[in-house]
Amino acid sequence: MERVTVKITVNGAEHEREVEPRLLLVDFLREELDLKGTHIGCDTRHCGACTVLLDGFNVKSCTVLAVQADGREVTTIEGVAPEEGKLHPLQDAFWKHHALQCGYCSPGMVMSALAFLSHSPSTDEEDIRRAIAGNLCRCTGYQFIVDAVREVVERQVSSE
Ligand code: FES
Ligand code: FES
Repeated sequence: MERVTVKITVNGAEHEREVEPRLLLVDFLREELDLKGTHIGCDTRHCGACTVLLDGFNVKSCTVLAVQADGREVTTIEGVAPEEGKLHPLQDAFWKHHALQCGYCSPGMVMSALAFLSHSPSTDEEDIRRAIAGNLCRCTGYQFIVDAVREVVERQVSSE
């Protein structure tokens, strides 16, 4: 199959690769760039484990082609922490509130929560649940995740 050149900025670094037009963004991240923090749960846009930010908005990277991300900015869970050895406040809150067990959904949950925090932060439980509605978790029962997100939103709101 004919290959096409894409240039995608991932976590602040530009990557140029020749890819098949059918290559999914999630496979580009995991296989071409070895960023395995973005998980694959269903490959059919249901679970949200593959969620990343594309130009700041959360997308399920199993539903996006790498060619669609050409010239754009992607953030994965590996690019969330402010520096080596430090956690992002959301990651810290997930840890503190026991908002993960097996951790399979966690990267996607954090990315959806991050988009919520950037675009439409609210401490309302319904709003938080709506923000992570596309992310499935089979372990935690969701309440601890909601608690973690709410704590970070509250801190953000009170510091503004
Ligand atoms: Fe993308 Fe499940 S792997 S939504
Ligand atoms: Fe296991 Fe969410 S912590 S799926």
